[in-house]
This record gives sequence, structure tokens and C-alpha cells, in this order.
Amino acid sequence: KKRVVSGVQPTGSVHLGNYFGAIKNWVSLQDSYETFFFIVDLHAITLPYDTQELAKATKATAALYLACGVDTDKASVFVQSHVRAHVELMWLLSTATPLGRLGRMIQFKEKSRKEGDENVGVALLTYPVLMASDILLYQTDFVPVGEDQKQHLELTRELAERVNYLYGGRKWKKMGGRSGALFKVPEALIPPTGARVMSLTDGLAKMSKSAPSDHSRINLLDPKDVIANKIKRCKTDSFTGLEFDNPERPECNNLLSIYQLATGRTKEEVADECKDMSWGVFKSVLTDALIEHIHPIQVRYEEITSDAPYLDKVLLDGAGKAASIADATLNNVYQAMGFFRRG
Ligand code: TYM
Repeated sequence: KKRVVSGVQPTGSVHLGNYFGAIKNWVSLQDSYETFFFIVDLHAITLPYDTQELAKATKATAALYLACGVDTDKASVFVQSHVRAHVELMWLLSTATPLGRLGRMIQFKEKSRKEGDENVGVALLTYPVLMASDILLYQTDFVPVGEDQKQHLELTRELAERVNYLYGGRKWKKMGGRSGALFKVPEALIPPTGARVMSLTDGLAKMSKSAPSDHSRINLLDPKDVIANKIKRCKTDSFTGLEFDNPERPECNNLLSIYQLATGRTKEEVADECKDMSWGVFKSVLTDALIEHIHPIQVRYEEITSDAPYLDKVLLDGAGKAASIADATLNNVYQAMGFFRRG
């Protein structure tokens, strides 16, 4: 079976962007692929964070994976920091990562510009190397993510190719390694709809965990009345009727897409159903569709979180399975890079 890996940071709460851009697609992949879904807690500490919240948020994110339909009979679910190989391989990969290449990454530029060079840790710069390590350790074929991770995936592919070239192939074989590449070169899987869910208060900005206003996003754990209120207050326009793909109407396009994703209908069906609707009517239809989609997730979430030992066991088993694969890759890389290994 081909392999799929992906993860979400345990920062803030998981929102519709994370769900439609990533998690929902994981669920549809788990039947046909060998899947590994992790909670990237080590990535969540690159900007200032609350130490009292990290463990809680990590468990909550894991529980949400399951509530969204990740099935532990099929998928391995684990916490990134529980598999030590992630940080170890990152160090090895960092020696093959050009500094300038990291400095040009969009997310680094945006975040470091906001905080100022003196105020951000170097982990913000090396963050994509850890992400590459998360992926390459598992000899991954596909990585289902939202649009914003595309650049990180490109870097991951480059690092895989570079390390394969520098240390793999014939050189590695001479050192006693098996033939073939050290790393598989992975591909991003970006969904046709949902890859970029936009903010409810600005149709040109991405829905994000870090936006200051909670009204800009719908969190998977928002109560019904909060969802209704956020939709009621979300930004609209003064055109008549509703339509996709009008560049002057980014909010309209975004809300219709969210409706499409929540109902599972096609774009044509949604365009046809909503073309003559007023904003008032559409908002109530959208609210109902979202609640209908999200409510069952919330019910399952309550069940899962009320059984702490169950979740602990899932994460322990997941980390065990992951570690055995990750360690094998890591050992190969050490060997290929010429390290003196203990017997
Ligand atoms: P994170 O935690 O920011 O986001 C998790 C996933 O949600 C997607 N996403 C969105 N998709 C559509 N619309 C949006 N508005 C939106 N916002 C977020 C992201 O694309 C992502 O798929 N660096 C990663 C986590 C990571 C990772 C990995 C992912 C670390 N290691 C290895 C895959 C494989 C991140 O910060 O995602």
C-alpha cells in the first residue's frame, strides 16, 4: 500500500479550514492507503505559547481527528514529540538545507516580519526542515494538505532529492546499504475545493487560527449558537443573487464553497440552488448545513474525550507503529552519512 502522512498543529482550535483543507480528506484516504496522522506539537512551540495549554491542546486535537472519522483500525495516530526520530532526522536534514532557501519561505517571511528578527527564535526558520523530516521518515507517497503548505512540500521534495543525491544511490550501497533511494520523494495532495477556506470577515484573507478575531473562523467545537452568530455577522456584499468566481465577490465565493463542502453537493448544484437567494435566506441555509455537518463530530468528540485511557492507548499504539518505521529510515540515513553506529 502507498503511504499517506499529515498533521495539524495543536494551536488554538481546529477550524473549518483545517477540516476541509486537510482532515476531511484524510478520512477518505484511509481505506486505500497506509495512513499516519500526527499532532505536530513540536511545530506548535515556534512562536510564544502557553505551556499550560500544550498538552491539553495536543490531546484535544487527537480526539478531534478521531471525531472527524479517522479510524484507528486503519490509521496510525500519534504525537510528533513521542517519536524521537523526527527531531533527530531534522538535524541531519538541516545540514543539507540551504540557509537562503529557508529565508525565502513565505510563512517565515510573513511571521518574522510581523515579530521582528530579534524577536523570533531560529526554530521559525528551521520549521520547514522539521516538517520535511515528519514526511521523509515514513517513505511517504502523498501528503494531503491545504494550499498554504504547498511551498513546504516543495522544499521537502528538494531535500529528499538532495539527500538522495549526496548520500544515497551507489555511495550508500558501497557502505552496505540496500540499493535504491534513501527517501521517497513525496507529493502534495491538495483538494480541488477547500484547499483555501477564507476568513468570514475578509474574503481575501485565509481562515487562520492566529487571526485575532474569533469571528473570522468557525471552529469545529463552536456551539450551535456561536456558529449561527458568526454566520449572521460574517461579511457579505450588496450584489443581488449569489454566484461563484466573481473576483469582485470573494466573500460570496467563499461562503458558497463552504456550503458546497458542508453539503457534499457539486458546484453546479450549489450555484443553481443559490443563484436567486438573498443573503438572509442563504445565511440561514448555510448555518443549518454547517451545524448538521459539525454536530455529529462534536457528539463523537465528547464521547472520545470522556474516555481518556482510550485516547492514551490510541496514541501509544500509534507512536509504536510510527517509531518502528521512522527508526528504520533514520538508521539508514545515519549509515549512509557515514556515522559510527553502535552494534
Ligand atoms: P496547520 O496546523 O497550520 O494546518 C493544518 C492543515 O490545515 C490546512 N489549512 C487550511 N486549509 C484550507 N484553508 C485554510 N484556511 C487552512 N488553514 C490551514 C493546512 O494546509 C494543513 O494541511 N506545517 C503544518 C503542519 C505539519 C505537517 C507536517 C503537515 C507539520 N508537519 C507534515 C503535513 C505533513 C501546519 O502548520 O499546518
